[in-house]
Amino acid sequence: QEVSRTRNFCIIAHIDHGKSTLADRLLEVTHTLDRTQMSSAQVLDDMDLEKERGITIKSHAVQMKFKAEDGQEYILNLIDTPGHVDFSYEVSRSLAACEGALLIVDATQGVEAQTIANLYLAIEAGLEIIPVMNKIDLPSSDVEGVASQIIDLIGVERDEILQVSAKAGTGIDKLMDAIIARIPSPKDNKHLPLRALIFDSVFDPYRGAVVYLRIVDGVLNKGDRVRFFANDHIYTADEIGTMSLKRQPKETLASGNVGYLICSIKDVKDAKVGDTVTHADTPASEPLSGYKDVKPMVYSGLYPVNSNEFEDLRESLEKLSLNDASLVYTPETSVALGFGFRCGFLGLLHMEIIQERLEREYGVNIITTVPNVEYRVVLTNSDVIEVDNPSKMPDTTKINHVEEPYVSMQIITLSEYIGNIMKLGMERRGEYKNTDYLDSSRVIMHFEFPLGEIVFDFHDKLKSISKGYASMDYEYIGYRESDLVKLDVLLNGEPVDALSIIVHRSKAYEWGRKLCQKLKGIIPKQMYEVAIQAAIGSRVISRETISAMRKNVLAKCYGGDISRKRKLLEKQKEGKKRMKQVGRVEVPQEAFLAILNID
Ligand code: GTP
Repeated sequence: QEVSRTRNFCIIAHIDHGKSTLADRLLEVTHTLDRTQMSSAQVLDDMDLEKERGITIKSHAVQMKFKAEDGQEYILNLIDTPGHVDFSYEVSRSLAACEGALLIVDATQGVEAQTIANLYLAIEAGLEIIPVMNKIDLPSSDVEGVASQIIDLIGVERDEILQVSAKAGTGIDKLMDAIIARIPSPKDNKHLPLRALIFDSVFDPYRGAVVYLRIVDGVLNKGDRVRFFANDHIYTADEIGTMSLKRQPKETLASGNVGYLICSIKDVKDAKVGDTVTHADTPASEPLSGYKDVKPMVYSGLYPVNSNEFEDLRESLEKLSLNDASLVYTPETSVALGFGFRCGFLGLLHMEIIQERLEREYGVNIITTVPNVEYRVVLTNSDVIEVDNPSKMPDTTKINHVEEPYVSMQIITLSEYIGNIMKLGMERRGEYKNTDYLDSSRVIMHFEFPLGEIVFDFHDKLKSISKGYASMDYEYIGYRESDLVKLDVLLNGEPVDALSIIVHRSKAYEWGRKLCQKLKGIIPKQMYEVAIQAAIGSRVISRETISAMRKNVLAKCYGGDISRKRKLLEKQKEGKKRMKQVGRVEVPQEAFLAILNID
């Protein structure tokens, strides 16, 4: 691999602006893959769920060969980046493995929040940015207007913006020329001690973790003894190579190359994204900068509906985490729900994906508790503890103060929705910062929010109050002190630990009231009266009562034919599957998520 004829780049875009479609076109023009192999599916997104959701969850890399105008053959390494804010650290590491980025903007949509967020990440990584306007085939495209937005955003000349239709294949040749001409070749640092940046890893059941890396300095040879900086583990490089659509083993990977490393790592958690690989015997003195130990942002309890499926759930989580280093889980018990796991996720989307995969791919029926963030509790004796489960909140008398994570958020919208968004911001305890005009009608609004206020349904709300014309992006900015209290729910006097939430004091009363009302609608009548109470500490702040059931369901069938009776019984059994016994009260699964759709 001649480094002067190598180009390492990625594609960044707001969701649905056409990243995967463009990637497919690149694979096609470089004959990495032809149309028949592609079918209708997008090749870089190879998980079913990803296809369905149209979101690239894990970054991958693919090597293409391209004969340029100058008659020379170039090696193009396309590194795919996940397109969601939950994965922005992964994105930043993928970008760090590149010299250039294609910034795609949909000509019918214009610049959106993630366009800007991703652009900033790319600028931080020092990348050469090639602006690409996509979907110019659509009659609704506004080529001039969107070009002006791009010019305002990155200060390029109008003729530097490429116009393509990834779908129809228009403008792809020019784009290829621009990739060769404008993206710098990697620096040739072969003479330095080895430093390779890990930007992704996948799990292969036969080979263990397959580590995707970019050689920044030095040379990696097959059979070398390598050391991972983050955990100081030493391995032998059993196999190295490059990725086309399949792995292509090589003897050597040198500075500037992108490839993979297989070295009998059993757990992907030992190959951390952002870590540096060096030689065990002649190590580099310093790792590459930018490594972070990613911590989950959102936690939720996962419990099997049938308690005898606990082992199945454990095995399924184990399998899922083989390929997902950012999924963490520890066993926990709930008085209400029995044995389960407290799971940590990078964000809500990540959480939904895991839940869906557990149910769909592994067939375990699970009950999920309301997601929460991790609180930092400073105790009166000055100890600091981290609380990822509301039921673990210490007694109020032991608490000095509580801190919660904050994010800074940017929202791009049309100026007519500013009022609605300000209102939503206030409801969610947002601190409004300022608004800038992007052009005569589009604005970018800046806020700071408690993460806990936006993890539930903020995005959906934002979309609905702006008729879809708003996009958002956020980044974590640290912990701040807040007046937070634990709100408990009691059924006939017994606290249901899985229904406890941590909420700001100013909202506790309203939440308590609405939650009780909601639960009243969800919990079916029982043989006896059920009192639903919300309480802060020992103080009950709200109460609802479900009156006792009058007659047995079977009474209806009295004298009726037997098959109807059986049907009814079966139906009841079906419903029971998703019920949990809390003390003497049967609680349906949806009750544990009731807080999610409280307005
Ligand atoms: P995420 O993976 O969700 O980030 O989306 P993406 O950016 O990869 O977008 P994707 O390639 O999946 O394209 C989104 C939609 O736009 C798909 O329905 C594509 O068929 C369509 N699309 C992409 N490029 C073009 C184009 O040039 N013209 C037209 N008309 N449609 C396009």
